[in-house]
This record gives sequence, C-alpha cells and structure tokens, in this order.
Amino acid sequence: MLKGANPADVTRARYVSPLVESETNHDFEAAPRFMDAMDFAIGGLEAEFGTHPSWNFHVLLWVASQAMRLPGDIVQCGVLGGTDAAAIVRYTNFAARTDKTFYLLDTFTGVPEELWTPHEIAIGAASAQWLYKQLGDLYASVVERFRSYPNVRVIQGKVPDTLAQVDAAQISVLFLDMNCAAPEAAACEYFWDKLVPGGIIFSDDYGHSRGGGYFYKSKVAFDNFAAKVGLEVLSLPTGQALLVKV
Ligand SMILES: C[S@@+](CC[C@H](N)C(=O)[O-])C[C@H]1O[C@@H](n2cnc3c(N)ncnc32)[C@H](O)[C@@H]1O
Repeated sequence: MLKGANPADVTRARYVSPLVESETNHDFEAAPRFMDAMDFAIGGLEAEFGTHPSWNFHVLLWVASQAMRLPGDIVQCGVLGGTDAAAIVRYTNFAARTDKTFYLLDTFTGVPEELWTPHEIAIGAASAQWLYKQLGDLYASVVERFRSYPNVRVIQGKVPDTLAQVDAAQISVLFLDMNCAAPEAAACEYFWDKLVPGGIIFSDDYGHSRGGGYFYKSKVAFDNFAAKVGLEVLSLPTGQALLVKV
C-alpha cells in the first residue's frame, strides 16, 4: 500500500476504468456491498492478469440482482477461474437462495479452436487463448472455489455439447463470455424458450477489446439473434451488452 494513502482509494485504484475518469457518476463504488463483492472475486489468479473495471462489475452485478427478483436458475457460459461468478454469489448471498441453481459451464481448458472461424482468428478472437492454455485445467480449482455453495453446479465440457446438462426448467439470466461467436449463438438458441419474461442475456464480449474488433463476430451473432426474436440489443460503453426478453 502507498504510504499515507487512504485504504479506500487504494482499493478503488485497483479497479480503475476509463469511464471512472470521465464525467460519469460512479457512486456505486462507494457501496460497501459492491466493493466487498469485488474484493471477494479478485483473488490470486485474477490479480495476476488483466484489469477488472468497476463499471463492468457494476453492470454484471446489476444483472445478477435482476435475476434474483425473477423466477428461474442462472447460467454462465465462459467461467475461466470463476471471477464473475464469485462476485455474483457474494453480492447476491447466493448460498441462501436455495430456490435457485447457478450453472457454470466451461471447458476449463480454453476455447475449442475448431469453433472459431478463420475470420474470427484473423481479427483477434484468439488473443487470450495463450492465457487459458498457460493456466491449465481450472476445473478442480473452480469446484473448490464454490464448494461452500451447494447450489452452484460446475459443468466441464464444450458448449454447445454440454447445454443439455443444464436441467433447469426456466432461467432468469444467461451470462455469455466465451470469446467465440458460434457457441454463444448456440446458447442463445438453446436457452431462449427457457428464459422467463424480463429475463436477460448478458454478452461480455459484444463490444469488448480493440473497439470491439476482437469479438466482432460475437456482436454480429448477438445482433442476428436479437433480430430473429424481434428485439434490440442494448450496447454498453463497457463493451458489454444486454438483451431483455419481453
Ligand atoms: C474470457 S474467459 C471467461 C472469463 C470469466 N467470465 C471470468 O469471470 O473471468 C472465456 C472462457 O470461455 C471458455 N470457453 C470458450 N469457448 C467455450 C466453449 N465452446 N465451451 C466451453 N467453454 C468455452 C474458455 O475456456 C474460457 O475459460
């Protein structure tokens, strides 16, 4: 810690976002519950790479809060070490929500490369694959991380092959973060009929990285899916996007 620095400011500096420096109000950072969830989520693995902008967590946790008010289970496709999921279970006190299950789907060994098109690879969608390979198989560590949450189910394998293992009758939110368009589109198709009215599909990759360049195909797939179901995507300056079922 910097000598003489306010501990709260030091914590906040870890989560700096370009938007924080803008004129946009970010009072949500002052909420102890919010910072607690971020601190809980960002542990050893996460501290070693990447940034974890508070604005992205603000959106993520708002979506999770909406899910808690709706009937149905929640699903995340693209879990990695469980950073987002850890923030969500902490923020929502998910262990107490015995009426809900949180399904976490990932290969836990990186993106199945045959699911990328050559064009996706050419525009940068594989930019983080080196990291996933370097981290090795994260399945056991994610199971361990959520051991005290009996209502969290960790499913290892390739989306879309594993989607049928989600035995939810209905879901309130589908979190997508796979850096790959085809399985994200397949998950949208698979879960749409199970998504309750007011339910949300959250895309982490929609406009993310290099002005959205890396994951442009994910954006196009999400837009096409939205058009097919007669709705519009809300694109956010964080790079995330939401599709709300009405
Ligand atoms: C950007 S990371 C997810 C980050 C995560 N949301 C977090 O909280 O840190 C992308 C993840 O998607 C997974 N993934 C990509 N394509 C997949 C697929 N078709 N099936 C299962 N997992 C996949 C990768 O293994 C990787 O862990």
